[in-house]
Amino acid sequence: MAKLLIRGGTPLKGTVEISGAKNSALPIIVAACLAEGESILENIPHDIDVYTISMILRDLGAEIWLDRENRLHVVPDGLEGYQASYDLVRRMRASFYVTGLLLARLGKAEVPLPGGCALGSRPVDYHLKGFQALGARINIEHGFVKAETDQLVGSKIYINRSSVGTTINLMLAASRAKGTTILENAAKEPEVVDLAIYLNSMGARIRGAGTDVIRIDGVDSLRGTEYGIISDRIEAGTFIMACGITGGELVLANVVPEHLRSTILKCEEAGLEIEEGISTIQVRSKGRPLAVDLETAPYPGFPTDLQQPFAAMMSIADGTSIIRETIFDRFRYVDELRRMGADIRVDRDTAIIRGVAELTGAQVEVTDLRAGAALVLAALIAKGKTEISGVELVDRGYERLDAKLRQLGADIERIPDRQEDAFEECLTSSLLEIR
Ligand code: EPZ
Repeated sequence: MAKLLIRGGTPLKGTVEISGAKNSALPIIVAACLAEGESILENIPHDIDVYTISMILRDLGAEIWLDRENRLHVVPDGLEGYQASYDLVRRMRASFYVTGLLLARLGKAEVPLPGGCALGSRPVDYHLKGFQALGARINIEHGFVKAETDQLVGSKIYINRSSVGTTINLMLAASRAKGTTILENAAKEPEVVDLAIYLNSMGARIRGAGTDVIRIDGVDSLRGTEYGIISDRIEAGTFIMACGITGGELVLANVVPEHLRSTILKCEEAGLEIEEGISTIQVRSKGRPLAVDLETAPYPGFPTDLQQPFAAMMSIADGTSIIRETIFDRFRYVDELRRMGADIRVDRDTAIIRGVAELTGAQVEVTDLRAGAALVLAALIAKGKTEISGVELVDRGYERLDAKLRQLGADIERIPDRQEDAFEECLTSSLLEIR
């Protein structure tokens, strides 16, 4: 596994360009395959999850490539496969979005049930209940979801709890169903809105995205178009906290401050000075962060994906903070932070963090994407050297995080895993060949 070697103590300074949102890119690349004709997508991040979803769709017959201006082209006309490959789908839960696509486009889908991951069990029962409401027949055999329909028909669907994936998957399927679908208790995340705007630009008829009731009037066909996706609010929040932990001064470029409202408020409560521009955020840290209590919640609440980087910042805060995680079971990184001297106790869905004056470098391992970000942040302030293994998990959702941090002054070195990197290299070059 590739490693990062970080020597802590350097305050971050400079300007960082935030990449496109991974959690927008994934559903939008899938949605491009609902259409006839080519879509050209801009601001797509170069991360492993984007390569994986592209490979799954290529495996089903779509053509996907990057051009020299770094725009992703998707030509779905040859997409006829309805059986998604287990080896590829098991790598990433968001692959389950192809179920909504295949039902809408082909009336048939065989997709492996997504496994659990470091965030605990992650069922798809709401997705399946929604597809059945739209008229699909669902069977689960040998770990595969087998779904079939002669014609998807619009329906009124209440989603049991705010679920980004369910809202997205049902929006994909309903966009080409017969009649009207109403999604009640829909997720309001910016990535859901981004997808709806893209689908409407292709000829879909979706109203209400961003509220908890989304109306979708199905259409017979969609046509490919050009679209630029939103920037990544989770990457932006991670850099704000990186500045908070190292006591530096950053300008974040290519961001949507509105998407970070709850994050900005919490970081200001922790003592960071934050100034918003139209598409920039300026962050200054006046020294040791203040201890702040936190509870994660669906958008517009504090995002669960920033809970771990925030906890890393609280591990050196002045005081004790209580962090409650209401979405997933995602405190596995705490053991690794403890190895660096953090004083954290977890009691069911709550972490009690007593801020310490100093963390010390150690050998630690990444358990999941955002936990990896937390370990990188902790290493940026820890005394001495930290060796972080399993950095491929960080590459799944952050584009060149180590390179961006180095450019801001961090003492960070990447120790490649020849074999793993060779595999990733051939994956990206073969999959997303430049034309
Ligand atoms: C999306 O995951 C994101 N992933 C996650 O980001 C993010 O943490 C999560 O939304 C919450 O915001 C992508 O967009 C690719 P959910 P998703 O459905 O859709 C339960 C990252 O690091 N649930 O909103 O899988 C579920 O267990 C990733 O970028 C069911 O019970 O999350 C959870 O407790 C991590 N049954 C809650 O709902 C279902 O059928 C919310 O999950 C579906 C979900």
